[in-house]
Amino acid sequence: MAVLPIRITGDPVLHTPAAPVTEFDDALHTLVDDMFETMDAAPGVGLAGPQVGVPLRLFVYGWTDDDDVVHRGVAINPVLWISPATIDELDEDAEAEGCLSFPGERFPLRRAESAILRAVDLAGEPFEVHADGWLARIFQHEFDHLDGILYVDRLDHPYGKAARKVQKKNSWGVPGLSWLPGRDHLDD
Ligand code: NI
Repeated sequence: MAVLPIRITGDPVLHTPAAPVTEFDDALHTLVDDMFETMDAAPGVGLAGPQVGVPLRLFVYGWTDDDDVVHRGVAINPVLWISPATIDELDEDAEAEGCLSFPGERFPLRRAESAILRAVDLAGEPFEVHADGWLARIFQHEFDHLDGILYVDRLDHPYGKAARKVQKKNSWGVPGLSWLPGRDHLDD
């Protein structure tokens, strides 16, 4: 197993729709093992293929809820249904989201409260997860990665502007940047 470098915003693989997984082989198993290790080392609650430079439709997730229930798995070739999002005012703390490809930052973003994830596992077996709250948010965030969308692309004013400033300050937004969990220490 290996911790993989995580691509930073600006790398084309993060901004391009990924292709379906077609080969359920040893290489896929190794990739998924490495993605779990990388996510845990970061640490993060989700990691999508494009974030480690692999333009395939898969993500891993791992999150423990307030009742100490661990939600952890790999979703390959996922489909996601989401409930309509509400339009009341954003809560800057409770709805603050982050991304390992926009490291060390958090900005609030409205997400759907509920989601249904349908995907296959490493054996190619279909499964379904009904998620609410933060798990639903994780699924929406990771699913977006597979379509080449970062959460900062979805921010409303003034948060979008703040994110662009951060990007400029860090000289992100260009191809070829990455960071390595365990080697590069971030501020958050
Ligand atoms: Ni992300």
